Amino acid sequence: MIKAYAAFEPHGELSAYQYEAGELSAHEVEIDVLFSGLCHSDISMIDNEWGATEYPLIPGHEVVGKIAKVGSAVTQLNKGQVVGLGWHAGFCDECTMCHSGDHNLCTSAQPTIIGHHGGFAEKVRAAANSVVVIPEGIELESAGPLFCAGITVFNPLVQFAIKPTDKVAVIGIGGLGHLAVQFLNAWGCHVTAFTSSDQKRQEALDLGADATLNSRDEAEIASAAGRFDFILSTVNVKLDWNLYVSTLAPKGRLHFVGATLEPLDLAVFPMMLGQRSVSGSPVGSPATIAKMLQFAQLHNIKPVIEKYKFADINKAISHLRSGKAHYRVVLEH
Ligand SMILES: NC(=O)c1ccc[n+]([C@@H]2O[C@H](COP(=O)([O-])OP(=O)(O)OC[C@H]3O[C@@H](n4cnc5c(N)ncnc54)[C@H](OP(=O)(O)O)[C@@H]3O)[C@@H](O)[C@H]2O)c1
Ligand SMILES: [Zn+2]
Ligand SMILES: [Zn+2]
Repeated sequence: MIKAYAAFEPHGELSAYQYEAGELSAHEVEIDVLFSGLCHSDISMIDNEWGATEYPLIPGHEVVGKIAKVGSAVTQLNKGQVVGLGWHAGFCDECTMCHSGDHNLCTSAQPTIIGHHGGFAEKVRAAANSVVVIPEGIELESAGPLFCAGITVFNPLVQFAIKPTDKVAVIGIGGLGHLAVQFLNAWGCHVTAFTSSDQKRQEALDLGADATLNSRDEAEIASAAGRFDFILSTVNVKLDWNLYVSTLAPKGRLHFVGATLEPLDLAVFPMMLGQRSVSGSPVGSPATIAKMLQFAQLHNIKPVIEKYKFADINKAISHLRSGKAHYRVVLEH
C-alpha cells in the first residue's frame, strides 16, 4: 500500500488515502518522495477546472525523491539515485514526437496526476523514460519546482531560440514567473517583469529583472508599445491581450504557458502588419529538463521556496490559493 493525500471532490480538502500499487511494471521505477512542489496546476486539477480530473486525485508533479525500486527492463536508472519527476510520468517512445525528442508533445504521454497517482505521497511510480537524474550540487529541497515550473518557462527559450539581445517580458511573477525572470536574466536578455503586486516589483528586480510594469495598469502597459521581442505569460487569468500584443516589436511573440481559460479575442491587424505571433507550449522534454538543470546549476538559479510539512498540506494549498505564496510552496515529510 502507498500512503498519500487525495482530493475527493472539486474544491475539497485533501485527506489521507492509501492505494494498492500492485506489481511494479518492467519499465517503471518507484520513487521514495523527499519533496514535492505545489503548482497552480495541482489546484486547477483539485477543482476540476480543466474537466480532466479523476477522483480520488493524488496531486503532486514536482517531485524530488530517491529511487527505491527499479523495474526488470530498466537499464538507465539505479536504486538509490536521486531523481526528479514532473508533469509527465511516461512517454510512448514510439511516435514521431518521441523519436524527435519532443516527448512533451507525445499524444500518448501519461500525465503524472491524470489517471495516475501523483507525488503528494510517500512513494510515486513513473516510467523510467520520464524521470531525470538530479546532478550533484543542486539543492534538493528547492529542486522540485524546476521539474514543472522551471521547465515550463525554460523550454520556450530553447524552442524559440531567444537571443541575449532580445528584450523580453514575463507576465505574472508567481511560481513560474519568478523562475522565468531568473532564467531570462542568465540568458542575457533585458527582462521586464509585469506584476499586479506592488511588493513584488522590488523583488522582481532582486531576482534579475531590469524593469517592472503593472500588469493591470493600461497606461503602464501602453508605455511599452512596440518594445518586446518575446513575452511569456504565466498568469491563469484573462488580461487585456490586445494591449499586450501592442507591446510586441515587429516579429515579436506573445507566448502562453499560463493556463488562462477564457478564449483569446485578438485583433488580426497588429499580428499581420507586424508579423507578430501568439503561441503556447506544455512543460518540456526530459532531455530539455536535463539541460535546464545544468544551466540552473551553472548560473545558481534556484526556486525561492516556502516549506510545509505534508501533514499541513491543506494549509499549504490555502496559502497558494490566497495568492501569497513566495514564490513556490514545497511539501516535505
Ligand atoms: N504550460 C504548462 O506546461 C504549465 C506548467 C505549469 C503551470 N502551468 C500553468 O501556469 C499558470 C501559473 O502557474 P503558477 O504555479 O506559476 O501559479 P502562481 O504561482 O499562482 O502564479 C500565477 C501568477 O499570476 C498572477 N496573477 C494571478 N491572478 C492574477 C490577476 N487576477 N491579475 C493579474 N495577475 C494575476 C500573479 O502574479 P503577480 O502577483 O506578479 O501579479 C500570480 O503570482 C497556471 O495556470 C498553471 O496551471 C502551465
Ligand atoms: Zn505544474
Ligand atoms: Zn510518443
